[in-house]
Amino acid sequence: MRLLDIIAYRPPDRLLTAPRQQASRKRKDHSIMQDNNPFAQALDVANRADPYPLFALLRKTPVHREEDGSYVISSYAGIKSLLHDPRASSDDRPKPKHAKTGNLLRDYIINPFRDWMIDRHKALVFRDPPDHTRLRWLVANQFTAERISGMGGRVQAIIADLIGSMRGRNEIDLVADFAYPLPVNVICELLGVPAADHVRFRKWSSSLVGALEPEWLASEEERLKTMADYEALISYLGALIREKKKRPDGGILSDLAAFKDKKHGKMGGFDLIATAVLLLIAGHETTVNLIANGMLTLLRHPEWLERLRQDRTLAPRIVDEIVRFDPPLQFRARIALAEIEIAGVAIPKGARLVLLFAAANRDPDRFAFPDRFDPDRQDNQHFGFGGGPHFCIGAPLARLEAEAALVALVNRLDGLRLLEDPPPYRRTASLRGPEHLMLGISGIKEGEGWESSRMRERQIAPAAALGSQS
Ligand code: HEM
Repeated sequence: MRLLDIIAYRPPDRLLTAPRQQASRKRKDHSIMQDNNPFAQALDVANRADPYPLFALLRKTPVHREEDGSYVISSYAGIKSLLHDPRASSDDRPKPKHAKTGNLLRDYIINPFRDWMIDRHKALVFRDPPDHTRLRWLVANQFTAERISGMGGRVQAIIADLIGSMRGRNEIDLVADFAYPLPVNVICELLGVPAADHVRFRKWSSSLVGALEPEWLASEEERLKTMADYEALISYLGALIREKKKRPDGGILSDLAAFKDKKHGKMGGFDLIATAVLLLIAGHETTVNLIANGMLTLLRHPEWLERLRQDRTLAPRIVDEIVRFDPPLQFRARIALAEIEIAGVAIPKGARLVLLFAAANRDPDRFAFPDRFDPDRQDNQHFGFGGGPHFCIGAPLARLEAEAALVALVNRLDGLRLLEDPPPYRRTASLRGPEHLMLGISGIKEGEGWESSRMRERQIAPAAALGSQS
């Protein structure tokens, strides 16, 4: 089960009994490549540390039909056209079709409850126009350049605290000690979650991440616990939103609850909760990977680590190249609402599409020497933050956090070295990043206030703009 499925309260595919997609008679035979299927291999946790050679193989069949009738798209051109194609729907959740299992608990409580949850709490990332356009506008309106750049000081303070707590140690786990707590604290503060509750949020989030483990599917007990955690999170957020309505505090939740627009109206109660869960999870699970992938990449390319140490204004380019080179969110899904032809392959109506951003980001038809980590590259319009109408709303925040984090880490941690390469990875394939990143350090330099030079030099792009350049 993927994390973004959880955001939509989507049951794992394997628990659904949806009939397999019928293969189109029109499809070309060269789209079928079942033996030694590179996508299946890339999903295998054994290949998590380096799926890129498999993605290169996949690009040889850029529209690759899977055994279950879904299509994996791995070329830059194919993904670009689908991201802008209204026939490629983001509402990719299977319609509730639970067959009776004979298990009373599942047939009469768990599955109907899931269906109800899916209907009521569908986040905007899983919606199409006109709902998507309206909800996105209302959310993006909160992610103003002023609000995000206004977080710069807090981001610095949180970073300084986290690095400060590493004093006296000669070994750290960058994920647990830094990359995880930073974005959780930032998103909680932005949303207006009281500091006293951050720990609870982290616990809920870890529980949701735990649900990504394949083993989780085997345990009814774990599943029920995760469902209970969803409920706890939802009822917590419901209460928090009611409180924000009574006592607005200038945070995103409180402003979103109060905001009313002539054209786009107001966000309703269920949408507010779905949005809060989306922002909470999208806001940190991806950023953890960005910081960890970023540090790993810099340690493997010490010349760039040194250049960043010497010149912090390189941070925006370095972070952007990390998002291309090793994207924290490797793929997303769509559903074909009609037959769509890509690269000469007719994808049938109803087929599930996997947009493999991580493969497109290394497409040699789009990027010169794509396997080279090169922050100097020009025209770096990758799909690390998606593209088209669903382009990531949080990209400016993610960039702000990652830039500040990497600059501080390379400047303040002395004797930085990787203790394990490759590091162990999280099991999840779409949200890909190290589970732990063990680093050796020889000391900590005192902090100098990091001022966001990029903020002064160039305006952060407002997230409110629908779509991206790509
Ligand atoms: C490294 C960090 C991040 C990465 C790599 C990332 C990546 C993405 C991608 C690829 C999408 C497009 C999904 C699709 O096309 O189906 C997306 C959408 C989204 N992201 Fe991010 N994201 C990051 C951080 C954030 C943050 C910090 C937030 C908010 C605080 C955020 C909020 C969202 C939202 C709300 C959407 C849905 C937009 C829509 O459907 O219109 N993301 N993100």
